[in-house]
Amino acid sequence: MKLQPVKGTRDFYPPQMALRNWIIDGWKKASLRNGFEEYDGPIFEYLKMFQLKSGDEIAQQLFSMQDRGGRDLAIRPEMTPTLARMVNQRINALPKPIKWFSVPRLCRAERPQKGRLREFFQWNIDIIGIDDVLADAQIIFCAVDYLSSIGLTPKDITTRISSRKMLAALLKNIGIEQDQLNAVYVLLDKRGKIPPEVFEKMTDELIEDNSIKRKVIDLMAVTKLEQIPEIVDLNDQAAQALDELKKLFSILEIMKIDQFCKFDISVVRGLAYYTGVVFEIYDQAASLRAIGGGGRYDNLLKDFGGPAIPATGFGMGDCVLEILLEEKGLLDPAKITSKTLDCFIATLDDKLMNNALSISSDLRRAGIKCDLSYKTSALGKQLKAASDSNAAKCIILGREFIDSNQVIIKDMSTGDQETVKIKDLIASLK
Ligand code: HAM
Repeated sequence: MKLQPVKGTRDFYPPQMALRNWIIDGWKKASLRNGFEEYDGPIFEYLKMFQLKSGDEIAQQLFSMQDRGGRDLAIRPEMTPTLARMVNQRINALPKPIKWFSVPRLCRAERPQKGRLREFFQWNIDIIGIDDVLADAQIIFCAVDYLSSIGLTPKDITTRISSRKMLAALLKNIGIEQDQLNAVYVLLDKRGKIPPEVFEKMTDELIEDNSIKRKVIDLMAVTKLEQIPEIVDLNDQAAQALDELKKLFSILEIMKIDQFCKFDISVVRGLAYYTGVVFEIYDQAASLRAIGGGGRYDNLLKDFGGPAIPATGFGMGDCVLEILLEEKGLLDPAKITSKTLDCFIATLDDKLMNNALSISSDLRRAGIKCDLSYKTSALGKQLKAASDSNAAKCIILGREFIDSNQVIIKDMSTGDQETVKIKDLIASLK
């Protein structure tokens, strides 16, 4: 019987593992230089935690199970509910603002497609305790900081930013009822992801009144913040949210990332808990699904039984990112290697095998990354093995060792050779 991997999962052979590690390493470095601390939680939680506030889409994509005690559990499809639960548990002891990051493995029973799998890794950065767009700007900065550190420019990616607070106020002014808002968000979030005729049909089903529907469609066509008051009357909430967005854009300019950002009213986000600024990062051609997305969720901690404390954050998966980097030629094989050694020991005489073993263990103990051929063969073959292992140096153990306790160190990039006494080997390699 030939066993297959489950649909939507990936096997990480060493080259794929090297790429995954390189991506995650970059996420971690960007988090740390932006002042975030790492945390993690369990891979499964009580099912109800993800049914409470994440929204129907996530709830339908849960991998759920029952433990032997009949408790309903689910593998985490996202990190934010776990973060909210963990912060609530220690809320009084934690210094504010809380700036945490995590790189969880997540599972969603989505239909596997380009950039969307059933198991993936997602970088999360969140700031809890700051009720100001300054925190949203910090989150956006950190995401852009990472993406530019790996070579992406404003020609490649855009952060599309909007505000749910503003959209809610505007939609209500247009005539959408409060209890319809979430359904309208879900619908608007689907725009661009589904064929126009399907979107049209869903809009007809959701919004029966034609004049309201027309106004929603006109609103969605707005491209600049300044156009909004021309289309819909601003009430206090809409005016305040508009000012917040303007402030956010001015901070992004001060931080010199405005080139990476633009206002896009159609960004609403699929998850139910967002309350304010929302944003998604796309490839410039928008030919791929979102690279990442996030926003403000000021009610989630309270909804999970904690205090009313403002929060904002962002998540980026590894799948779309990888496709984009591949397309842009930004995956540098020299930086993304599964095996890198400081040295490789080539042994030219069977009698020296024990010496090779002893030398390799001394080198490893000294912190030098080292491997060796397990049997002797022609030097050319062993040099190839050294080169396949990306070894910086090859240590050749042959006649010189038998005659005078010396080895040859060959530099694998220049081809230069030097002969050193075995007692000086560690010093010469360091
Ligand atoms: P999300 O929009 O559901 O947000 O996911 C964020 C990112 O995770 C997506 O843009 C994508 O890169 C990646 N992602 C999501 N689903 C998949 C999938 N099936 N396969 C591959 N990648 C995927 C959240 O999860 C929020 N909890 C983010 C957040 C953190 N908001 C505040 N803090």
